[in-house]
Amino acid sequence: MKKINFIAITIILSLILSSCGSTQVAGEIGTNSAVQKPSASESTDEPLPKTYDQSSVKVRPDDGRTVIGISMPDKLLERWNHDGTFLKEHFEKEGCEVVLKFANNLIDTQINDIRSMIDEGADLLVITAVDGAALSSILKEAKSQGIKVVAYDRLLMNSDAVDYYVSYDNYKVGVLQAEYIIEALRLKTSRDSKNIEFVTGDPVDNNARYFYQGAVDTLHPYLENGKLRVISNQQGFYETSTAQWSTDIAQQRLQIILNSYYPENVKLDAVLCANDSTALGATRALESDYTGTNKVIVTGQDADVPNIYSIIEGKQSMTVFKALRDESVVAVALGLAILSDDTPDGQLITNSGWGFDCTYNTTDYDNGSKIVPSFLLSPITVTKDNLEEELFDTGYYARNGAGLIYAVE
Ligand code: BGC
Repeated sequence: MKKINFIAITIILSLILSSCGSTQVAGEIGTNSAVQKPSASESTDEPLPKTYDQSSVKVRPDDGRTVIGISMPDKLLERWNHDGTFLKEHFEKEGCEVVLKFANNLIDTQINDIRSMIDEGADLLVITAVDGAALSSILKEAKSQGIKVVAYDRLLMNSDAVDYYVSYDNYKVGVLQAEYIIEALRLKTSRDSKNIEFVTGDPVDNNARYFYQGAVDTLHPYLENGKLRVISNQQGFYETSTAQWSTDIAQQRLQIILNSYYPENVKLDAVLCANDSTALGATRALESDYTGTNKVIVTGQDADVPNIYSIIEGKQSMTVFKALRDESVVAVALGLAILSDDTPDGQLITNSGWGFDCTYNTTDYDNGSKIVPSFLLSPITVTKDNLEEELFDTGYYARNGAGLIYAVE
């Protein structure tokens, strides 16, 4: 059922409590507790868009179930645990069966994970790649079996099997980090030159280059006119990159830079870190190996809990916050629409009623094989000044009885 008018869908949806699995056997509708959707008053989640008729969701003919395979890169970095949980919960709420696996940052493990999802009857794969370019063969296999693929947060490269991409605006993340530095160092008005070092992301993660590009494009005028200097001369993407986004690798690299280029009389003003795990490494290196007494600006991304403490303590200056719950809401709505045999576009956003910004982009994410239609959310800058309002008042984070911060799931 491709095009159904909106009113008809609303009526159908209000008459039946349907689900992903509801095409299995018509008579099962309403008898399967897994398909019960919470009432609007029970649910605190963003509403899913009414652009699809859930009863039209197609399942692979093999088993009559709707199975969603979710392949996350690893459990080590805080965010993927939350992404995995949010995606699983939202898909299950819609009556889908979910197979969720974490690949321990290993390409072979991720390929095996995806293969087992295909074997378990997956209808849709939601994948955040360990290495965006390493999954072409297994994606080809998925496509040949009619399985739909959504690249989640990181683009899947060199494959025409990727149907859609859901992410935050990755370029803007770098822009926000750079804008913060420009403001904090008063580069527009200051006459002195300031010193900056770069700690960028994992080169096998396609996002890392976007973060980097957003930042260097924004800093470019100041790097050009000499108001910003990179004393180590390490400024290119690869030479500043951090394998696996590792805190330890970031720490070691900055320690070497500090010991080699920043003797007592040389001041370091800022370290542009691509995300919070690298920012943790940078703040540790500054604590152990920087001899200056000035506050060094350190950027980040993700609002990981240790980094929220770090911002409160003044060790890290900012983070770029990306609400993972919202990202998963988009991915689930998109996934369900695709499974309804729909070809979602910007209308998905228009009809969604989401209380957050999201844009539909059909130009910027070329994966080497096709331009992947993308749904992009908008990141925001969080500092000590707006942390309470943006992270806690919004309900994304909370403090427990002992006052300890945790991310609300
Ligand atoms: C994500 C970031 C994350 C990084 C390391 C990137 O692909 O967009 O949010 O910090 O991976 O996990």
